[in-house]
Amino acid sequence: MKYSAKAFLDLKGKTPVTMLTAYTTPVAKSLEQAGIPIILVGDSVGMVEMGMDSTRTVTIEHMCYHVSAVRRGAPNTHIIGDMPYNTDNNPATALKNARLLLDAGADSIKLEGPKYDVISYLRKNAVEVVGHSGLTPQTASSFKQVGKSKADAERVLEEARGIAAAGAFMLVLEHIPKELAKSITDAIPIPTIGIGAGNLCDGQVLVINDAIGMGDRWPPFSKQYAYVGKSIVEAVAQFRAEVEQRKFPE
Ligand code: KIV
Repeated sequence: MKYSAKAFLDLKGKTPVTMLTAYTTPVAKSLEQAGIPIILVGDSVGMVEMGMDSTRTVTIEHMCYHVSAVRRGAPNTHIIGDMPYNTDNNPATALKNARLLLDAGADSIKLEGPKYDVISYLRKNAVEVVGHSGLTPQTASSFKQVGKSKADAERVLEEARGIAAAGAFMLVLEHIPKELAKSITDAIPIPTIGIGAGNLCDGQVLVINDAIGMGDRWPPFSKQYAYVGKSIVEAVAQFRAEVEQRKFPE
């Protein structure tokens, strides 16, 4: 069963939400098989799959390509398409680009920061929106934790309130102190999904490459549930050895 935005709202305070990113068909298929209810096709694709230094060079065309690949792998899972940098600067531009993601197969879109006018315009046009506050990589000058000072914590809390009031159905909170994430979770009526924000949010999201150990550098707040990158090295080294020794094919 595919969860709607309303179904996620109804989970608040009841069942924690598990979200993972995915960018390709086979990985999306595995997530759907494992019962993950919501997949984020994040612009992190630029850094973890495309070798880019930041998410700022990801385009709407890249995102549509990956959203459609994920949809083919996970036909029955709620998919969020991430709005890349500079594609949601004003309501009309955001609506045009959000519709491209929806046409590619997304059920909802995510955008970073306090773009209240954009969120309410998208809602008026029947687009379901996920907000993203705390560390917002598209505009951050560093990947340091956000909301540590009292003033910055208040700013993030107000931003979360504004995003919920504008009509988002879910809010990603990235790299903020656990206590701040708890205050936000208590203060707003929509589910909060943490990444590096402690265990008191309404759910958790991880970048799939971090969760399965693909690559060799992971954020300190991510956990590796497997080391798939290591398994690939071992498998291909064995293949190479067998070819060189004429053991494969038998
Ligand atoms: O792009 C992404 O993968 C994200 C997550 C880190 C939440 O925004």
